[in-house]
Amino acid sequence: MKSWVIGNWKLNPTSLEQVQHLVTDLVEGVDAQTRSMDNCHLMLAPSFLHLSPVQQALNANSSTLKLAAQDVSALSAESGAYTGDVSAKQLKDMGVQWVIVGHSERRQYYKESNAVLLKKLLNSAEQGLGVILCIGESESDFEAGHTEQVLDEQLQVIADFLQQLKPEQAGYAEQNLIIAYEPVWAIGTGKVPSVEQVTQIHRFIRQQLHSFDNKLDTTPVIYGGSVKPENAADFAASDQINGVLVGGAALQADSFLAIAKCFN
Ligand code: G3P
Repeated sequence: MKSWVIGNWKLNPTSLEQVQHLVTDLVEGVDAQTRSMDNCHLMLAPSFLHLSPVQQALNANSSTLKLAAQDVSALSAESGAYTGDVSAKQLKDMGVQWVIVGHSERRQYYKESNAVLLKKLLNSAEQGLGVILCIGESESDFEAGHTEQVLDEQLQVIADFLQQLKPEQAGYAEQNLIIAYEPVWAIGTGKVPSVEQVTQIHRFIRQQLHSFDNKLDTTPVIYGGSVKPENAADFAASDQINGVLVGGAALQADSFLAIAKCFN
């Protein structure tokens, strides 16, 4: 399976000039060293505000880098009086191919529930956008040994989603879903679970997906949380880890590309 290395820029950078530098460095870096990167999909997730300039820079360079949004509206409307929302239809029209849904920062700061995430999944599917669904346990749940229970609850949204897909959307889920396991306590902290722990948890995630529908056996399961060039090769060595979702280290072209090389 081709691996996935995805840069989640979060609320960064703060200026358009910095965005343009970062995307230029990435495109040049990909040109210089990774045109031969046949075993790895590379994807960037800038803020909504910066999707357009990043898209333009990618197009101008015929870049193979893919583009994701960090969120999508949960409302069923594609347009209308919904201040602050960005619809899946608008994202699709902008050339965005993927959407991050359920990041722990959205769950924490906006109290996003499975009911809200289900609507985001359905809206994305309606437009044919791929979804990177983030799941992960808190530090207290990890320490209490409740990781599987938490992940099981978070994954229920996939079971509900599969049931609500329309007949004409058959085939969507097996092609357009990525599960990102991001333990909340590893995000931006420098603390990481061992590769063995991640491997075991990814096996659990796969079992759950299989129990929903065996067509999800090929769904990529990637890891996120303090991934750096220094630890990326260790994660890449596990056949259960199909890539990484990178935060802080995605804000420097050289570190993002060094991580990507490990997964190629
Ligand atoms: O979505 C990526 C993420 O939450 C991990 O962030 O900064 O720990 O790599 P970071």
